Amino acid sequence: MAPKTNGIGIQVEDMRICVVMVGLPARGKSYIAQKAQRYLKWLSIPAKTFNVGNYRRNDAPQPSADFFDTNNAEGERKRRAAAEAAVADMLQWFKGGGVVGILDATNSTKERRKWVIDILEKKAIDVIFVESKCDDEDLIMANIRDVKTTSPDYKGQDPEKAAQDFRDRIRNYEKVYKSINADGDEDDLTYLKIMNVGKQVIINRIRDYLQSRIVYYLMNLHIRPRSVWLSRHGESMLNLEGRIGGDADLSPRGKEYARKLPELVLESVGSDRPLTVWTSTLKRTIATARHLPQHYNQLQWKALDELDAGVCDGMTYQEIADMYPEDFQARDEDKYNYRYRGGESYRDVVIRLEPIIMELERSEDILIISHQAVIRCIYAYFMQKTQEESPWVPVPLHTLMKLTPRAYGTEVQTYKANIKAVSTWRGKGSTAKHEDPSPEGGV
Ligand code: ADP
Ligand code: F6P
Ligand code: PEP
Repeated sequence: MAPKTNGIGIQVEDMRICVVMVGLPARGKSYIAQKAQRYLKWLSIPAKTFNVGNYRRNDAPQPSADFFDTNNAEGERKRRAAAEAAVADMLQWFKGGGVVGILDATNSTKERRKWVIDILEKKAIDVIFVESKCDDEDLIMANIRDVKTTSPDYKGQDPEKAAQDFRDRIRNYEKVYKSINADGDEDDLTYLKIMNVGKQVIINRIRDYLQSRIVYYLMNLHIRPRSVWLSRHGESMLNLEGRIGGDADLSPRGKEYARKLPELVLESVGSDRPLTVWTSTLKRTIATARHLPQHYNQLQWKALDELDAGVCDGMTYQEIADMYPEDFQARDEDKYNYRYRGGESYRDVVIRLEPIIMELERSEDILIISHQAVIRCIYAYFMQKTQEESPWVPVPLHTLMKLTPRAYGTEVQTYKANIKAVSTWRGKGSTAKHEDPSPEGGV
């Protein structure tokens, strides 16, 4: 079995990084923290967010704005205790093999940042500060309305009053907030400052490859509304025979799906705004995109080609089980890591999809027409599926999926073309040509 590498192909065994969020409330810190965590975990880098607000809620579940006034001794004591508890848990987690810990709090004063650095540096953990600054009042108000009035801090309270209290809370923070290196005496710190959602960024003293990957990813995030559509190619001639891989043409029903796709897309988009279409370089995805409107930009990506089954390319599962029984079993035991002889594993596919994810983060509406294993990996990124789950997710043919990023997650809608197709899903241990997916998993 090939050695495991994570998605950016680097040794992380001795590496420990703490990403320390900085900024006033409602500046997207938790949003950024959660996205970084999701991206890193998808790349097999152990990452975990420690949200100080959650710790504080144990002691002060529904504090009003004056709790956050630094003259409030009781508030100060509890907030300090919450930060200490979060950092203590993070240190424990690093001991157990954690690589990127994310401290999600305001860390809005120089004193607090110095306190964090002192603790972490003693444990030889690299610190990178990520500050989100935003002076767009409309955006801040929208953030308060969308995520703060529904926070457990305001459970059961009138949303108008909650929004007013949250604005007062921000006022209290503003009295003591100091942007990183605003006085010029934090120049030694490693930091990324994101202004107005990436309109401008400042990068200071980024030290190694993993840090620069994190910074590059965070620089590319945007929050304009958009969706990502995913579809497999229409049913192929090899799908009909239960054979994997290859570069077959579409079956007659697959061609029918290609003709129906523009209508399905239109129904799902809900307007005639154009999409950009990404296909693989294989005939069956290009043919599936054929009837989409001419004014849609189309791009072929080699990275979107189906998982390479190596010596098993073109075989049925039964033929693989007969010819390579040990391999067949090994794949079922650890499908994510199993690499076909001369081919790829799911882990390999994730590595080659990393640029696709990066480009998706930068883009707006995109329709991806690709293959079963590739779509499972992209779906896993958006839906935070584990490595145990993702290779088994049913992704039926002739179905369009719409993924819409929301504040702290992704919304999924599916659109069926109602054109019959074989099932290519296979359960553990089975060699059936066409088996219906188990009812529990799936999209
Ligand atoms: P904080 O943790 O700073 O209090 P949240 O992360 O809870 O704020 O706020 C979530 C909202 O912030 C989301 O609606 C998201 O769209 C928005 N958001 C994400 N990134 C940014 C950013 N860089 N600047 C401002 N708002 C952002
Ligand atoms: O059967 C269609 C197919 O796209 C094959 O080309 C590919 O090898 C397979 O699905 C991937 O699915 P699984 O990992 O479940 O074998
Ligand atoms: C909080 O208590 O919600 C919080 C984020 O804490 P602090 O501002 O102290 O980091």
